[in-house]
Amino acid sequence: MTSWSLRQAQRRDVGELLVLEEAQFPEPWTRGMLLDEILNTTTRRYTVAVEQKKIVGYLGVMFVMDELHVNTIATLPGHESRGIATSLMDDAWNDALARGIKRATLEVATSNTRAQKFYYRYGFKPVGVRKNYYERTREDALILWADLPVALSDSASVLSEEQPI
Ligand SMILES: CC(C)(COP(=O)(O)OP(=O)(O)OC[C@H]1O[C@@H](n2cnc3c(N)ncnc32)[C@H](O)[C@@H]1OP(=O)(O)O)[C@@H](O)C(=O)NCCC(=O)NCCS
Repeated sequence: MTSWSLRQAQRRDVGELLVLEEAQFPEPWTRGMLLDEILNTTTRRYTVAVEQKKIVGYLGVMFVMDELHVNTIATLPGHESRGIATSLMDDAWNDALARGIKRATLEVATSNTRAQKFYYRYGFKPVGVRKNYYERTREDALILWADLPVALSDSASVLSEEQPI
């Protein structure tokens, strides 16, 4: 049984998201970058997983035409392998299907095999490499694409400001 709920990210979440970014990424986003992303609800969809009033994971996606771009996903250290990222991705995936999105893409560091394994479960496949994609580490990124042929679940979720989903 899951003990967290999902809701839309809000301005007040930025402090916690900064901590998560710094814990999980070699090139963490800044407060300004996070705010720009979260507040752009026209093309972005940022979701947080909340457990006992604490953010334990988050996912940010971007919609471009009939494509979904996964901008970021992270689970708070100590809470991995519980299905938190899976619940966030399933939720975005279902929303994408409801919007008629046909394909999804993302970049992932070549060394990040854990995240790659996670993405491959959604049908993502590597189609190319962006050389030196990450500024600080100079690491290459794999470019992954997936088709969204079938719904994972029949019910598409509707995000609201406060209501758990
Ligand atoms: C990649 C990442 C987001 C995965 O998050 P997570 O919450 O641990 O992912 P999940 O728990 O949903 O799934 C991961 C594993 O847990 C397993 N799992 C899922 N639900 C589970 C449950 N209830 N109990 C035990 N294991 C479970 C899954 O099968 C999966 O196993 P696998 O990796 O061997 O296939 C996380 O490791 C992370 O934050 N990494 C750093 C940031 C990062 O690299 N982001 C991606 C950038 S491109």
